[in-house]
Amino acid sequence: MAKILVVDDAPDLRDNVVVLLKLDKHVVDEAERATDALAFLGQGEYDLLVLDWELPDMSGVDLCRQYRADGGTGGVLIVSGRSSAVDKSDALDAGADDYVTKPYSVRELRSRVNALLRRTSGAATSRRTEQTLQKLPVASYSGQTLSDRYLIHEMLGKGGMGVVYRAEHVHLKRVVAVKVLNKNNVIDDRDVRRFKSEAQITSRLSHPALVQVYDFGFTDDDSPFIVMEYLQGKTLAEILRDAGRVYYPTAISICITLCEALAHAHENKLVHRDIKPSNVMISGSPQQPTVKLLDLGLSKLLMPSPETEELTIRGEIFGSPLYMSPEQWLTRPVDERSDMYSMGCLLYEILTGEVPFKGSGFMDTGFKHMNEFPRLLREICPEANIPGPLEELTLKLLAKNPDHRVQTMTELKNLLLYIPLPKDSRA
Ligand SMILES: Nc1ncnc2c1ncn2[C@@H]1O[C@H](COP(=O)(O)OP(=O)(O)OP(=O)(O)O)[C@@H](O)[C@H]1O
Ligand SMILES: [Mg+2]
Repeated sequence: MAKILVVDDAPDLRDNVVVLLKLDKHVVDEAERATDALAFLGQGEYDLLVLDWELPDMSGVDLCRQYRADGGTGGVLIVSGRSSAVDKSDALDAGADDYVTKPYSVRELRSRVNALLRRTSGAATSRRTEQTLQKLPVASYSGQTLSDRYLIHEMLGKGGMGVVYRAEHVHLKRVVAVKVLNKNNVIDDRDVRRFKSEAQITSRLSHPALVQVYDFGFTDDDSPFIVMEYLQGKTLAEILRDAGRVYYPTAISICITLCEALAHAHENKLVHRDIKPSNVMISGSPQQPTVKLLDLGLSKLLMPSPETEELTIRGEIFGSPLYMSPEQWLTRPVDERSDMYSMGCLLYEILTGEVPFKGSGFMDTGFKHMNEFPRLLREICPEANIPGPLEELTLKLLAKNPDHRVQTMTELKNLLLYIPLPKDSRA
């Protein structure tokens, strides 16, 4: 495991290199501009720098020259479309150790990186390799530093997919939450690759009501982890445990925020797949709650490659049974309308305190989702005075056939905005 900095202003090319290097278990930082790269270099030494020649603020070759002038001893590989002998010798004279011309094959880049690391591997690298060999305890990562930068503190909670810890970025001194996923969900290189590309897509999204994903990596014992914004507050599941249910104007306001977050995710072609009360964090005052949706697309991160059709072979279902759409139960392809169904389950539960479908066991719950109609909300809790249009809307979200549900989150938001509210609850 080496520490590598990749500097390229073309996001696609940079991503390719980063994924490739992370696949080989290296710790990778990435920068778009030379000035950002210099900021990274100011924080610590790297084993290798992979530098694009054409950068917006300074050429990769000048960056290399400056790195050497500042006493940098790591390896430097220049990646460039320039193929003349003069350019290559300019780069090497500036202090680069090797040069690869675009378009390059993945195999060539990997071999050059490995050759450079063999030559330049210093004490830092061998120390890290030794650490890799010492297997971490499976049960807890508290006290460990993951990827050389995330110092793990106490456990915050545990779910079906892994364990969440409070942690600290040791260089930036920022508090983060780290979710270490069960590694038995990831079985081969193809799954690892998929995990990485999905995690990258998720981390590119940014919305005030979506928990921000900052980074991802692998623990020394090969469990995937994601690093995200640390949130203080209570999940909707905890609120339901304490309060039973949520007053309907508050439920509407929470769902409107969730619709906005999910509309953003859906516009970016990401389906959440695991909407449920424990994935919604509420903080702030009851009058003006801040709502954040967690675990976007996370269950997909752990799915095996679709081309292998191993989903059914392994007999694994990714999602939470009480909130899974009929199409998820049938392991059919899902789209954003599956999220609509799970939103229906969530809305039903926070309004009434009961989930719409719960069987005596896993398969029985699935049968109900696929075949039964839920009880009317007004029958469960007449005293909640849930308006008729809100009940109708909730039941529509729970339609078995995706075509019969509300079709988009923006449409749902607009329908929720039309539900009459009691005078005392208007902002
Ligand atoms: N970003 C975060 N900041 C602070 N606490 C968090 C964060 N993410 C999760 N938690 C806490 O960790 C608990 C466990 O979360 P986790 O996602 O592992 O479980 P879950 O949502 O119940 O199940 P699943 O694995 O299906 O998502 C949450 O209930 C919450 O209290
Ligand atoms: Mg969760």
